[in-house]
Amino acid sequence: MDCLQEWPEPIVPVQSLSEAPTLPDRYVKPPSQRPSVGDAARSLDIPVVDLAMLPGGGVVEAVSEACRHWGFFQVVNHGVSLELVRRFREAWRGFFHLPMEEKKRYANSPRTYEGYGSRLGVDEGANLDWGDYYFLHFLPCYLKDHDKWPAVPPCLREATDEYGVEVRKLCRRVMRALSLGLGLDADRLQKALGGDDEGVCIRVNFYPRCPRPDLALGLSPHSDPGGMTVLLADDHVHGLQVCKDGVWITVHPLPNAFIINVGDQIQVLSNAEYKSVEHRAIVHAKEERLSVAFFYNPRSDIPIGPVPELLTVTGRAALYRPMTFDDYRLFIRRKGPRGKSQVESLEAMAIPGT
Ligand code: OGA
Ligand code: NI
Repeated sequence: MDCLQEWPEPIVPVQSLSEAPTLPDRYVKPPSQRPSVGDAARSLDIPVVDLAMLPGGGVVEAVSEACRHWGFFQVVNHGVSLELVRRFREAWRGFFHLPMEEKKRYANSPRTYEGYGSRLGVDEGANLDWGDYYFLHFLPCYLKDHDKWPAVPPCLREATDEYGVEVRKLCRRVMRALSLGLGLDADRLQKALGGDDEGVCIRVNFYPRCPRPDLALGLSPHSDPGGMTVLLADDHVHGLQVCKDGVWITVHPLPNAFIINVGDQIQVLSNAEYKSVEHRAIVHAKEERLSVAFFYNPRSDIPIGPVPELLTVTGRAALYRPMTFDDYRLFIRRKGPRGKSQVESLEAMAIPGT
């Protein structure tokens, strides 16, 4: 694992470049990857699910349909306190607005990615994305370490703890709906993720203003490697785009909503009934943007493969060979965002008839 010990070259926080008059070459995407202006105008948007619907009122069907056809949906009436969401978001905005020396005390390394960082992947000379982030472990408890979280603003740790507890509850509700939507027992997917030993990581994304948003991306196309992601979008500035049938669709977050998406591990567990979908973030010339991804993951040392009962019911062959999440996530940690190439390469390795 030597290649994951240190960054291949000095890290330059994007925030420190943000006021430059021109976009440094490292951030200029090849023409085929640049965000095209036309995409944003499309009226299509991801499905919305109201979680306050009465029991039997269609939540299971709505969630399951969204995960089969889009891999993405927004939830409203999700039960997480709006006051808490506001406090949590403001705490993290406060952190990113601290002087650079303060933030650099938390500089991360590719060994665990925990802390303040600016790149994903360790390939020397790689093209880079126009975004900084803070990555931390929330679960399991033995990986959670307050000393690795910012000490300033003072309310940040408490707000992050409370937020983690509440969003975990939401994830469990959604997992039940996802299980039922596959015809499985309500707790089946949760069990497959390790029961009460699931993992949670939080990635706070900060996308500074960009001198040439037409040439750069805040985050390159990728699918999330974990189980499921709950994204808290910026309350004013859009930027998330989802690839639907080969076209980039701009998501317009509803007020007080969360955006939920299927990760590669749920695609594997569901034997591709539910799909993880490529997404990316664009940036703007005049507005910075903050988003928070809550990654709901399997316990990292158990092999994750298609749920056996599901194969019996559907009579389909397993599309994936089991792999632990510890092994799976090394790919994105080494290579950075690479579309859906990893889960697709896992498909190619499956042995037909097993
Ligand atoms: C992520 C992600 C999108 C965004 O952090 O994995 O896809 O809008 N973020 O910041
Ligand atoms: Ni993502």
